[in-house]
Amino acid sequence: MNQGQEHIEHRAEQLRREINLHNYYYYVLDDPVISDAEYDRMLAELKDLEEKHPGLKHPGSPTMKVGAPPAGQFEHREHSLPMYSLDNSFSLDEVRDFVQRIKKQIPDADPYFWAEPKLDGLAVEVIYENGLFVAASTRGDGYVGEDVTDNIRTIRNLPLTLFDVDSMPEYLEVRGEVVIPRQEFARLNADKARKGEKVFANSRNAAAGSVRQLDSRITASRPLYFFSYGTGISRFKSGSNWQSQQEIARDMEALGLPTVPGGRICRDTDEVEQCYREQLDRREQSRFEIDGLVIKVNDIALQQRLGFTSRAPRWAMALKFPAMQGRTRLNDIQLQVGRTGVLTPVAILEPLNLGGVLVSRASLHNENEIRAKDLKIGDMVLVQRAGDVIPEVVRPLVKERDSTQIDFIFPDECPACDSPVTRLKDEVALRCLNISCPARLEQQLIYFAGKQGLDIEGLGRQWIRVLVSKELIKSPADLFRLRLDDLVPLDGMGLKLAHNILDSIREAAEKAVLPRLIAALGIRHVGVETAKRLAEHYKDLDELAAARQEDLQGIEDIGPEVALSIAEFFNNNQNKKLLEEFKEIGLWPVQALNVDNKMPLKGKKMVFTGGMKTLSRDRAREEVEKLGGKVVGSVSRNTDMVVAGENPGSKLNKARELGIEILSEDDFLNFLHSWSSRN
Ligand code: IVH
Repeated sequence: MNQGQEHIEHRAEQLRREINLHNYYYYVLDDPVISDAEYDRMLAELKDLEEKHPGLKHPGSPTMKVGAPPAGQFEHREHSLPMYSLDNSFSLDEVRDFVQRIKKQIPDADPYFWAEPKLDGLAVEVIYENGLFVAASTRGDGYVGEDVTDNIRTIRNLPLTLFDVDSMPEYLEVRGEVVIPRQEFARLNADKARKGEKVFANSRNAAAGSVRQLDSRITASRPLYFFSYGTGISRFKSGSNWQSQQEIARDMEALGLPTVPGGRICRDTDEVEQCYREQLDRREQSRFEIDGLVIKVNDIALQQRLGFTSRAPRWAMALKFPAMQGRTRLNDIQLQVGRTGVLTPVAILEPLNLGGVLVSRASLHNENEIRAKDLKIGDMVLVQRAGDVIPEVVRPLVKERDSTQIDFIFPDECPACDSPVTRLKDEVALRCLNISCPARLEQQLIYFAGKQGLDIEGLGRQWIRVLVSKELIKSPADLFRLRLDDLVPLDGMGLKLAHNILDSIREAAEKAVLPRLIAALGIRHVGVETAKRLAEHYKDLDELAAARQEDLQGIEDIGPEVALSIAEFFNNNQNKKLLEEFKEIGLWPVQALNVDNKMPLKGKKMVFTGGMKTLSRDRAREEVEKLGGKVVGSVSRNTDMVVAGENPGSKLNKARELGIEILSEDDFLNFLHSWSSRN
């Protein structure tokens, strides 16, 4: 071998090692130490070397992770030890029984348990010889699986070369689960739906479908992850075999293999219960779908004494979480009218419990979605609560159709007001354009009074519905005209509640600074942040309403679409009338900001009362003084503003009596923030 060649081989080996190490940092530890660009550069150099010198190709090379063209059918591959299933249990009582059974069978021992999350994916076995990935197979029937070596090789967090540790086995069968993260699964399905392809029923099917692709380049394009939870046969040159599950997990990690996260020792059923509750609590934040807890006798010698039944080990069991997916009847599809008039079809379901939440409705988004999913009223459907707790109808169970299912036909008229529905240019959604539509008003009020808007405590959607249906309110301004004798006669109201609601409305009006009121209007594309921006530029709603689209677009973060929407809103006669009404009832905040360009608080006297969460009194005073204001100790007619923190004292009441502007701590911080970001 000449020197040049030796140098090239050395370089390839060095690159392989480094890239494998960075794969480990990135995919296993989730903690990369170099930039993506540096990584790409190394990989490109290695690819280039291997292409120019085919003799350098190496089975453990990270360049092998890109996949290869279809290979016909999968070969069968026999497992050297059967891959068993697990017995399922659904309650902690069953776990107690399991522990009792074990204690009866091995009365001389006092076993500890290894408990770890049960990942919802596909079981595979991966084989390493002298630290090199050589083969992988699916579980199949437990005895014979499919040879999916080329596909498993593409999984990013699976090392093709193990770390060279002292106890490296010459031969190692690693068993584990291949999964797709929940978010990536949702993205994959959304992508499929967009292309009109059939979606995966769940992330397990998506993982299995991806692993069983004949073209491994497709597998390589899927966001698959592998996590080991055990071993099959293993042989060591030196050292002995593993004594416990805990040791296996520890050593897999030392070899650079990803292990199921969250495994730990439990000494008794109480600790198992604690572990179960913790995992269940974490479930909805977890990056991966977890469908239960696996509990295994930790000691391998004890596992061997306990043995197997025909399908499952006697030393392990799965404690399943409540299901997040289930089947139920789609009883009806109803239309919900939103505050902008959009008609959203909603699935009315035979109620079912998913992961502890009773689900009876799920949004179907729009007409296209119903067509794409081929849903019919009366269908049995698969429903799930996925990533973000919002339930969704996955698909109909077409095989269960009889002749009773009927197509959903989108009506030509709004279900609430019978006005014709229209599709605006370039939109998928159909809308009711009647601005007096009671359903629209109801939604508008729910938004106006909700957290995004004026945040009127105690005035939930139920009461708003009643107030609209009794025609006690016809616009948001009417809320402020409500009187005790309007409310008290309402069913289920009573004097106390009526007082509370009126107090909340009054309080909300008092703290309705301009950004809040703008947000409450529910202008399309104008949320809390945009409202704040607008309030930095216009002193009141009149100024904002008079703004030209070009001027609006000059404001940071406001594009043509938002500017148009704002202009349209204020051009609408009904909305013009609303502003007049606000003015009439005195709901007309004026931003104190424009008083002076540098000293917005010039000459102002401010009072702070109650505890501040983030600002100390000294800081607050400093900030006020910087802007030209003065902090004073007591409220009088001369006070300009009161900032009320937690548990404010009598000063707040006095300020209210005197009609002085009151800000919450957040309002005050927003004010400081908006001011400092402008200057
Ligand atoms: S241990 C002898 N641990 O659950 C079987 N299995 O329902 C030992 N699974 O086929 C399996 N997460 O694919 C084990 N942390 C975990 C697991 C796990 C998921 C799967 C595995 C098995 C299935 C049984």
